[in-house]
Amino acid sequence: MQQVSQDVTWHQASVSSEQRQQLNGHRSVLLWYTGLSGSGKSTIANAVDVKLHQLGVHGYVLDGDNVRHGLNGDLGFNDQDRVENIRRISEVANLMVDAGLVVSTAFISPFIQDRAQARQLLGERFIEVFVDTPLSVCEQRDPKGLYQKARAGEIKHFTGIDSAYEAPVTPEVHLKTDLFCIEQCAQQVVDVLVAKQVISQSSL
Ligand SMILES: Nc1ncnc2c1ncn2[C@@H]1O[C@H](COP(=O)(O)OP(=O)(O)O)[C@@H](O)[C@H]1O
Ligand SMILES: [Mg+2]
Repeated sequence: MQQVSQDVTWHQASVSSEQRQQLNGHRSVLLWYTGLSGSGKSTIANAVDVKLHQLGVHGYVLDGDNVRHGLNGDLGFNDQDRVENIRRISEVANLMVDAGLVVSTAFISPFIQDRAQARQLLGERFIEVFVDTPLSVCEQRDPKGLYQKARAGEIKHFTGIDSAYEAPVTPEVHLKTDLFCIEQCAQQVVDVLVAKQVISQSSL
C-alpha cells in the first residue's frame, strides 16, 4: 500500500452521514458475509437485499466475483493479493455506508485478521454474518464446479481444500444453511437489523 502524500488533506463533507441516514429513514451499516465457497453468501445477501428493497431500505451488494472483474481486476489469489482485495473492499464499503446505504459484502474472506481490519474501519457499523455451512455440504452443492476442479488439482489454494478458512468466533449473525432454508436465513438477518435498530419495526 502506498503512503498517503503529505499534500493530501481530508475535506470534511458538507452533508454528514447522520443527515443522509435521517433522510433515508434508516441507519447505514455493513453486513459482512463470510463463509466457504458455495456456503450461500451471495444467495442470502441478495435475498436480504430484496427484502430490504421491499421495505424501502437503500441497500447494495458488493459481490466477490463482480468486484474481481472491475475494481480488483488486477489482483490474484496469493496471500498478499487476498489481503489487498479485502482492504479495498472494506474501504469502498466504508464510503458506501458513509453515503447512507445498508451495504452487504459477499466474500469468502477466510482470515480473521482481515475481517478484524474491516471491523476496525467500520466500528459499530460492522455486522459480521457467518454463513456456516459444512464443507461437505458446500462440496455437494458445488454451484460453480470449483470444488471438483480443486480436488482434481486444477485450482490451487482453494479455501477449505488446501487453504485455511478461519471461522468467526463471535459473529453478530450465525446462519446454519444446512438446517434453515434461504428464506429463513434471510429473515434471520433482517431480524438482527431490527433488533439493532438499523431499520425500525414500523417499516416492517
Ligand atoms: N439455506 C440456504 N442458504 C443459502 N444457499 C442455499 C441454501 N440451501 C441451498 N442453497 C444453495 O447453495 C448455493 C450457494 O451458492 P452461493 O450463494 O453462490 O454461495 P457463495 O456465494 O457463498 O459462494 C446456491 O445454489 C443456493 O441455492
Ligand atoms: Mg458468491
